[in-house]
Amino acid sequence: MPTFKLDGREIPFEKGDTIIRAAHRMGIDIPHYCWHPGLSVAANCRMCLVEVAPPPGQRPLMLDILAWDKEKNDYVVTRKPKLQPACQMGVVENMEVKSEASVEVAKARAQVQEFLLLNHPVDCPICDQAGECRLQDYWLEHQGTKKRMRDEPVHKPKGVVFGPTIVYDAERCIVCTRCVRFSAEIAKDPVLDERERGNLTEIVVSPGRQLDHDYTLMTEHVCPVGALTSSDFRFKARVWFLRSARTLCTGCATGCNAYLDYDPRTMTPYRHRPRENMAVNQYWMCDEGVLSYHRLTERRIHEPRIGGQPTTMPDALEKVRRLFAGAAKEQVAVVLSAQHSSEDNFALYKLASTFIGTSTCFISGKPEGKRDEILIHQDKNPNTAGVRALAPQARSFDDLLESILAGRVTHVIALGSDVPGDPALLEAPLAKLKALVTLASHDGTLTRAAHVVLPACAWAEAEGTYVNSRGMSQKSERAYDAKGLSRPAWDLIARVGEVLGYATSWRKLKEVRRAMEPEEAAAGT
Ligand code: SF4
Ligand code: SF4
Ligand code: FES
Repeated sequence: MPTFKLDGREIPFEKGDTIIRAAHRMGIDIPHYCWHPGLSVAANCRMCLVEVAPPPGQRPLMLDILAWDKEKNDYVVTRKPKLQPACQMGVVENMEVKSEASVEVAKARAQVQEFLLLNHPVDCPICDQAGECRLQDYWLEHQGTKKRMRDEPVHKPKGVVFGPTIVYDAERCIVCTRCVRFSAEIAKDPVLDERERGNLTEIVVSPGRQLDHDYTLMTEHVCPVGALTSSDFRFKARVWFLRSARTLCTGCATGCNAYLDYDPRTMTPYRHRPRENMAVNQYWMCDEGVLSYHRLTERRIHEPRIGGQPTTMPDALEKVRRLFAGAAKEQVAVVLSAQHSSEDNFALYKLASTFIGTSTCFISGKPEGKRDEILIHQDKNPNTAGVRALAPQARSFDDLLESILAGRVTHVIALGSDVPGDPALLEAPLAKLKALVTLASHDGTLTRAAHVVLPACAWAEAEGTYVNSRGMSQKSERAYDAKGLSRPAWDLIARVGEVLGYATSWRKLKEVRRAMEPEEAAAGT
């Protein structure tokens, strides 16, 4: 691979690389605002300026400048190297670039930084970006001086509602155009643009439009300062109090990699944001996925229920034992869930196939929905492929209803509360069951019809593996402990097995995973 030198260090590069991209790949940060690895180059902020040595035998590019001469007590004409934007300058072999090692670059960065802050309001104490703002970070790293301008700063519109999810503050905006480019290039909806010139420039929404495509929250995500704020997160939390877990979005079968930011003091989730994975979601998530973290606190089930009434775990398990006592194995079925992790599904499938001795299994999950050509998948379940690999013979939910109506299935253990069909049409068939035990994290059709409900952890409360629509097996970390009596579904299944007289061997997640290994190898997942 060809290389160039950055501050004396050999950096490999690929054809077409710019200086900043090659450095970024090596984990070296060249300060930048307008550059984003997933967007086109605008080169408008000038924060990434670097000094480039000329090829051997060629004259360096120089600029005539006026510099203050203390001895002469006057300005004198002198020269300095012409700096180049690292985000736009392509690399060639043996090029020599100075970033941290150049005095001129350090001066330029401090000046760019001072220029960007000339009219910037001192909003930091009430700004949602505080703690993760580039202007704050780079002031400390590259400027560190007090403001010299004594004039009244230019005032611009604040609190402008761009759409249902985004509020804009033109005074904080550094006009890097990342949001404009994101909307045009990634969301394929050029709904944002700039108006005016110079220090009056601001970002506007196209006349007659709102910022309302399916990826509006990514404009806030790419904004390097606090100019675009999300209505959802605005004024809710200070980021330095939050911790991040490396989770997955369970909003659809794409399986976007995400960070779930939560407050560890209250175990409260506050936001979901993309985690880079070039093979899955690159740098992005859709709005529905970003906002899907609300499900962690909505319609939750945190206690066991018998006939819809809260009860204790021992009483609920005793009820399960009585309901299944004497049930004919051929009439017992399990319902796997494409909403749950592979570990949860494996535990239930194993209980059914190995211990209870039934091979009758069905698959449930959310109904299909909207799709697009960017990220959004029509399958609104994160683990359909994982369940299919585990139990290829699993039949549809409609088949379950038919089997119940025909009297072939009378006892069911179901994972998850979501069903793919119209809930109103399910009431009559489900009411015919002699026993329906549902292990679920959320209230839904299968919990409302259940004789016994056992409270399961939601995806961010337990580690789990999910297989996305491309067959990629991905792990989601546990962010925090579940509230109430909720347990990981695989653990609840082990307890159900015990009361039914089929002791399973797993007590820890790693034991479930160890048991899964041979099956995964056979299925090739
Ligand atoms: S709103 Fe943010 S992303 Fe958009 S131009 Fe201004 S600073 Fe850049
Ligand atoms: S595309 Fe699917 S997985 Fe990705 S963020 Fe949206 S809902 Fe979540
Ligand atoms: S990053 Fe803005 S000019 Fe290069």
